[in-house]
Amino acid sequence: MSEITHAKITENSQIAQDIFDLRIYSPKQAALAAPGQFLGIYTGNGAMLLPRPLSICEIDAPGGHLRVVYRIVGGGTKEIAGMAPGGHLRILGPLGNGYAIDNTHRNFAIVGGGLGVPPLLGLAASIRKAVPDAKISVYLGFRDKAAVILQQDFGKFADEIIICTDDGSHGTHGNVIEAARGGDFEIAYGCGPPLMLKALAQYAGQANVPCHVSVEEHMACCVGTCLACAVKVRQEGVAVINKRACCDGPVFNAREVVW
Ligand SMILES: Cc1cc2nc3c(=O)[nH]c(=O)nc-3n(C[C@H](O)[C@H](O)[C@H](O)COP(=O)(O)OP(=O)(O)OC[C@H]3O[C@@H](n4cnc5c(N)ncnc54)[C@H](O)[C@@H]3O)c2cc1C
Ligand code: FES
Repeated sequence: MSEITHAKITENSQIAQDIFDLRIYSPKQAALAAPGQFLGIYTGNGAMLLPRPLSICEIDAPGGHLRVVYRIVGGGTKEIAGMAPGGHLRILGPLGNGYAIDNTHRNFAIVGGGLGVPPLLGLAASIRKAVPDAKISVYLGFRDKAAVILQQDFGKFADEIIICTDDGSHGTHGNVIEAARGGDFEIAYGCGPPLMLKALAQYAGQANVPCHVSVEEHMACCVGTCLACAVKVRQEGVAVINKRACCDGPVFNAREVVW
C-alpha cells in the first residue's frame, strides 16, 4: 500500500538518549499493519523529499494507533523528533512484507540488537496472540545500560527476556547470539545490525531451525522503484538474484540471504 496519509501524532516523547517513542492515530493503517512492516515517514521539511523508513513497533488495530520507536541519527529523524503531539505527519504504508508467524511451533526465539529491537515487540505480541501457549524467549543486545529500550514492554508477551550489553553495564556482558546459543527453540526471528543477523543465520543453520530476519538496508523511495535497497538472495538455493528490501522484504528467510 503506497498511499500517503496524514496521521495525527498523539505522543512523541524521549525514552532514552536520542531515542523517541512516537504514537500516531491512523486507523486505516493500523487495521492493515502486520509485525515487521514499516512506515515511510515524511519529515515536514520540504528540502528532504524522501520518506524515512521506520519500523512499526506496536499495532493497536482496535484503537487505531501505531507506535514507532526511533533514534535521531540525521536531519530527517531530528525533524520528526521535533514534531509535537496534536500535529499531523505524512506517512506512507504500511510498507513491505513482515514476519510470517508459523503457529505449528511452540518454542520461539526473538533476537534483536539496538534499533532493530522495536519491530520485534509487535512480533512478540502477534506470536502470543496466534500461539497462546507458546514459549517466547527474547534476546536483546544493546551498547550499554543507557541504550536499553522496551524491556518492560516485552514483559507483556515474553516468557523470558535476556538483555546483553557490550560493556556489561546491564544484563549479561557480551554478545546476544552467544546468549541465544543456550536456548532451546524451534524457530528464530531477528532484526538488528548485519553482523548480528549473519551470526544468527549461521547459528540457526547449524541448529537446523528456520530463521526469518528483517534487514534494514539503506532506502530511498521505500516503494520499489529506485533499487537503492538491493539485497542478494539465493533463489531455490542456487542462483543469486537481487531483491528489494523495501517491497520484497524487509523480512527474508535467513537461509536465502547471501551474507
Ligand atoms: C525497514 C527499515 C526499518 C527501520 N526501522 C527503524 C526503527 O524502527 N527505528 C530506528 O531508529 N531506525 C530504523 N531504521 C533506520 C532509519 O530508517 C534511519 O535511521 C533513518 O532513515 C535516518 O534518517 P535521517 O534523515 O535521520 O538520517 P540521514 O543519514 O540524514 O538519512 C539520509 C538518507 O539515508 C537514509 N538512511 C539513513 N540511514 C538509514 C538506515 N539505517 N536505513 C535506511 N535508510 C537510511 C534515509 O532514509 C535518508 O533518505 C529502519 C530502516 C529500515 C530500512
Ligand atoms: S528503497 Fe527504492 S527500491 Fe527499495
